[in-house]
Amino acid sequence: MATADDIAQIRARALADTAGATTLAGLDDVRVQHTGRRSTLAGILASIGTLPPEERGGVGKAANVARRDIEAALTERKSDLEASELAAQLTGDRTDVTLPGDPYPQGALHLLSQVRLEIEDIFLALGYEIADGPEVETEHYNFTALNTPEGHPARSSSDTFYVDGTSGTILRTQTSSVQVRVMEARTPPLYVISPGAVYRRDDVDATHSPMFHQLEGLAVDEGLSLAHLIGTLKHVAGQLLGSTEYRIIPDFFPFTEPSIQLLVRWTDRSGRGSWMELLGAGMVDPNVLRFAGYDSERWTGFAFGMGLDRIAMVRHGVPDLRMLFEGDLRFLDQFS
Ligand code: PHE
Repeated sequence: MATADDIAQIRARALADTAGATTLAGLDDVRVQHTGRRSTLAGILASIGTLPPEERGGVGKAANVARRDIEAALTERKSDLEASELAAQLTGDRTDVTLPGDPYPQGALHLLSQVRLEIEDIFLALGYEIADGPEVETEHYNFTALNTPEGHPARSSSDTFYVDGTSGTILRTQTSSVQVRVMEARTPPLYVISPGAVYRRDDVDATHSPMFHQLEGLAVDEGLSLAHLIGTLKHVAGQLLGSTEYRIIPDFFPFTEPSIQLLVRWTDRSGRGSWMELLGAGMVDPNVLRFAGYDSERWTGFAFGMGLDRIAMVRHGVPDLRMLFEGDLRFLDQFS
């Protein structure tokens, strides 16, 4: 029969085991062992009714007090262990917000795209619209409809890339091909620009490349004159290049009459100044207007084609056109 001493021993061992448990799982084992249905203490409590009446009070009280103490100790130890397990988890999972982040490189527009967008903005502010045209073009739109007859030197295969196996298909040599497409699709008055790549079998040197970029402009309205053209070009050159000096000289293009060329003063990195051709322009030849079905007695127009790559070179002192197409990030990064 259990005595008060036995119960005191059970209690002491249970409290010691509780204190010694280091994990929640271990503590649960302690709980089952000392207070579970098959524990010694549960047996004692169940058998109290069978004790002689004079012992019941003492043993019963001692056993109940022991159970309460053990349960209280278990509960307290449980919350301690829960707290320390949570703390351990938090320490293990901690994110060090002071660690340097993974660098994420930021992209930027290519210098040519920046220059193109800037020029587009200047023209949009003047009321121009932007038009598009194909780079693989027909001789018709690139030459014939632009008053450039068969046999003209610009049509020869030494200047123009002909697309193999097709007749009359070329890589456009100028964005002027868009002029005719726009006139065919629309009626005047119209004020349109069209930027894009063009292709020529140019010798490759520091200022030439077989692919480069132009921005075409075309205005058709009543009463347009050379003064409107020059005024427009001066405005655009001023916006783009600031106080750069420029010169307008006569030129020839089959599809404009008269034709002019705009040169700007360009100072290279060594401080040497030279004149660089920035654009060709002129009054739209009446033949071209008629080709597009316009009444050339009523409408007049001007057109211009500027070299986008050259503008980027002049603006940023880029010494070699080819750098714009090589994709070397050490170069491009400087303009991002
Ligand atoms: N297309 C001409 C060239 O490539 C430039 C130009 C455009 C000239 C429009 C007159 C009018 O040189």
